[in-house]
Amino acid sequence: MSSQIWSQLRLDPQKRLPLYKQISQQTEQLVHEGKLKPGVRLPSERKMAEMLKVSRMTITLAYEDMKARGIVRSQQGSGTFIMRGPRIEHSEQAVTWHTQFAYETGKINYAMEEVMRFGRDPRLIPLAGVGTAPDVHPGIELSQFFAEHLRRNPMLLQLPTPTQGYEPLRQDLRGWLAESGIHAAPEETMIVSGAMQGLDLISRLFLGPGDYVIVEDPGLPAASDAFAASGAKILRITLDEQGIRTESLENLLMQFPVKFIYVNPTFHNPTGITMSLERREHLLALAKRYGVPIVEDDPTGLLYYGKKPTPPLKAMDRDDLVIYLRTFSKYVFPGLRVAVLVAPEPIVSNLLKVKQRIDLHSNNLSQIAVHAFLLEGRLQRHLERLRSAYAARISLLEEMLSAYPDIQCQFPQGGVFLWCKLPPHIRAERLLQIAIRKGVAFVPGNWLSGVGLGDHHLRLAFTHPSLDLLKEGIKRIGEAIAEYSSYQW
Ligand SMILES: Cc1ncc(COP(=O)(O)O)c(C=O)c1O
Repeated sequence: MSSQIWSQLRLDPQKRLPLYKQISQQTEQLVHEGKLKPGVRLPSERKMAEMLKVSRMTITLAYEDMKARGIVRSQQGSGTFIMRGPRIEHSEQAVTWHTQFAYETGKINYAMEEVMRFGRDPRLIPLAGVGTAPDVHPGIELSQFFAEHLRRNPMLLQLPTPTQGYEPLRQDLRGWLAESGIHAAPEETMIVSGAMQGLDLISRLFLGPGDYVIVEDPGLPAASDAFAASGAKILRITLDEQGIRTESLENLLMQFPVKFIYVNPTFHNPTGITMSLERREHLLALAKRYGVPIVEDDPTGLLYYGKKPTPPLKAMDRDDLVIYLRTFSKYVFPGLRVAVLVAPEPIVSNLLKVKQRIDLHSNNLSQIAVHAFLLEGRLQRHLERLRSAYAARISLLEEMLSAYPDIQCQFPQGGVFLWCKLPPHIRAERLLQIAIRKGVAFVPGNWLSGVGLGDHHLRLAFTHPSLDLLKEGIKRIGEAIAEYSSYQW
């Protein structure tokens, strides 16, 4: 195969998509178009790097990405080969699919997809996505409570579940929320399939093309993607050590007809910052003055490692301004896909209509499992175990990272992330490429920003690996930093 075909790849370092992804996606396109046939051998990594004028590391990652996605396969000693054939367009299906789509999925931030892929790769120490450490993993306990609960109530699974959620779960959740100062009437709560579904429902109900939403930056890309999917324009505000900058917020509220403000005020993802009490009061006052609701996402507020954090905005809300989301993903398992949404009744009753159209109700099994775990104070005991296990991890990280002056971290009072700053000559996304070769993954800060912040930051999720693996992961990131300047980028 002549090298001409590869000259068709158009790489743009200015794009937000990493170079290795650009190579992988464009190669896949050549395969789909039938320009690269199954069995064709790819050039060696060295040769490809020379042809495309990128680092060898970029090519290694591109080839690994294509292997993971089943586009190519490697054969020991003989090279890397195309596996798939061209996309067959039958004459009766002569439709160019992508021209038919109304939603440009190419705009979706790739961070979530990558974090999930890293999490599935057993060769990588998981410091990118959140999971529960093996020493405090509630899997066995949860399955025992669940089995026992079903044995005693065998009809449970057959009962019709309301869209609003499994009734006993909702009832007990109200008591649990009240412990955080959130006093919700039954008609003000609903179960959703993870906080992400809550955000999607809110987006569908509130937003249309041309609407404006304010979000924190850096922040959860999946949230802004959910809002942008309805056609909304995203306005981004940075944080200081007290949380979202309310002065900038007021400027935006004066200029734009904003539909809502989305915040993650307690142990913010990714910075770990907790909004101060004064800032919370100011935010609520601004929301009231400009008549703009707040969406409060609170996935980790109960994972505090010292004193209890400032109360949720929802607990301080006297004017029905706040829609509150609390997921079980970080407290039990992300795979459960169970979260509770609290909002004034007119919002809940309309969100229910939207939800009914999507999935009728959230999964019964998961709701019953969460309920079994809530009974008899089991969840409280589990959260206490998590707090002490994760506090020990923060101390360990503080001690370990003091040996690496090139990684300056903000050690949070709670939550599941460490936000760390690298020296200006180290770009986190490039560092990730070395780290992956060393068998450890993290999230480069720029994946979490829509305004180009975070090029020199990394987010470390510290709750998933065992303590030994956590130590090993930090050591390998340290080695990756030490090697960084020996690469020609
Ligand atoms: C702030 C925030 N919101 C929502 C989510 C997703 O929650 P869920 O798994 O319930 O969809 C995450 C996950 O990391 C998060 O950090």
